[in-house]
Amino acid sequence: MPQATRAKSGSKRYKILIRSAAIRKRVQEVAREITRDFKGERVHLIGVLKGGCIFLSDLIREIDLETSLDFIAVSSYGKNKDSSGQVRLLKDLDSNIAGLNVILVEDILDTGLTLSYLLRVLQQRKPKTLRVAALLDKPSRRRVNATADYIGFQIPDEFVIGYGLDYAERYRNLKDVCILDPETTSQ
Ligand code: IMP
Repeated sequence: MPQATRAKSGSKRYKILIRSAAIRKRVQEVAREITRDFKGERVHLIGVLKGGCIFLSDLIREIDLETSLDFIAVSSYGKNKDSSGQVRLLKDLDSNIAGLNVILVEDILDTGLTLSYLLRVLQQRKPKTLRVAALLDKPSRRRVNATADYIGFQIPDEFVIGYGLDYAERYRNLKDVCILDPETTSQ
């Protein structure tokens, strides 16, 4: 598991948990695994908005297969750090996924509630295969049985930001995955 190191960016304090270089390397490895697993086939990536968009855009460019992509959006934490436990579909897919090799691309697997909801919704639409790629996994937080087939990093039970992940819609643009200092989260 990655260990946090303290860093300062502008007036804000972050603890860097995973540096951008390590993310880049791991994304390439995951893409190689996907390329190998689906050799000769097309894969249809579905990004879970908004957090999964940065991971998806890096991942898809490293996959050496025929690809297509779509996005889905679900409600998550709003401005809070704790899940309400309620998952709601905010934006559905643009196209049919029947018969496709679907890879759902998530930023982070936390309680697992979002993923289990999405898998239920997508499975009903009869894809040929349905797999999950998650950049981050917090296994100690799981409330329902949900796992990803491709995992970037397992992390401890910390609220993380950056590389697509937000706190109250901020910090998605950080290149590293960081832990925000508690005093910053109250601003
Ligand atoms: P789950 O349903 O609890 O597994 O949570 C999934 C969603 O919650 C993720 O796709 C994120 O949008 C959000 N989330 C969970 N943990 C974090 C975190 O540490 N930082 C930012 N967002 C998080």
